[in-house]
Amino acid sequence: MQNQKIIALGGTKGGIGKSTLSSILADAIANQEDEESKTVLIVNFDESQKTEEVNPQHTTMSVSQIYNYIFGEIDDNLSIEETNKLLVTGLLQAIENQLEFDYIIFDTPGELNSIFLSVLHKIDLFIVPFMAGERNLNSLEYFCKSLFALTQANTKVLFIYNQYRNKTKFPFEETILNIKEKIKGVNIVSEFHKFYFSEAIITMENERKGINLLYNNNKLAYRIIKKRTDQFLNNVLKILN
Ligand SMILES: Nc1ncnc2c1ncn2[C@@H]1O[C@H](COP(=O)(O)OP(=O)(O)OP(=O)(O)O)[C@@H](O)[C@H]1O
Ligand SMILES: [Mg+2]
Repeated sequence: MQNQKIIALGGTKGGIGKSTLSSILADAIANQEDEESKTVLIVNFDESQKTEEVNPQHTTMSVSQIYNYIFGEIDDNLSIEETNKLLVTGLLQAIENQLEFDYIIFDTPGELNSIFLSVLHKIDLFIVPFMAGERNLNSLEYFCKSLFALTQANTKVLFIYNQYRNKTKFPFEETILNIKEKIKGVNIVSEFHKFYFSEAIITMENERKGINLLYNNNKLAYRIIKKRTDQFLNNVLKILN
């Protein structure tokens, strides 16, 4: 599909907000005010997590569900390598011909798995969430070094400091500069965004509600989260366009 944008959320650490931010971004894209409505599909790359539990609000499919839906069941007797090969071919074909969405969001697992690595060339924007703390930063650096050595020049990256709190004293902007310094020779174009820690996100997750459904529960929480998600979307669109 023409003008389709593919955005991947990645990072080697678990629990940094890849799935949460995928849902929030999908919500924000689908509910843009004064815009023709846009369609979004979330592709869950982590077969060990149930897609409907990870992102209950959106059209969400795992890579193997896409294959089954479009091409039929995969033979159980195939080896993991053969199955993965089929899944990659299926995903690439599906993206090119069958999955007609304005935006496709890849929610990837906390590892550089072979399926993710095989579709890197299709990705328009990488969103890399991270949280404060030495260990988180070490894995952020490792992830960037390993992944962006494999991508093309001028790969677009939006770093997100997730679960940010006002009182946090943490030199995040310096950190990103340091990381860019360390992965010198790897050509990325990056922006940086802070995403606040929010109780509303936890409520949304527990109640399996999206931003708009939160509107009926708590208007103040809705307004705050809406403002934050709009800022997030604006930064995504700024770097994408
Ligand atoms: N900005 C935020 N404010 C509050 N809670 C958050 C925020 N971002 C993420 N969380 C919470 O952190 C937890 C982990 O987030 P999430 O599942 O999105 O991480 P993940 O990177 O997808 O993890 P995994 O590697 O297991 O797939 C979730 O329970 C989520 O509700
Ligand atoms: Mg996840």
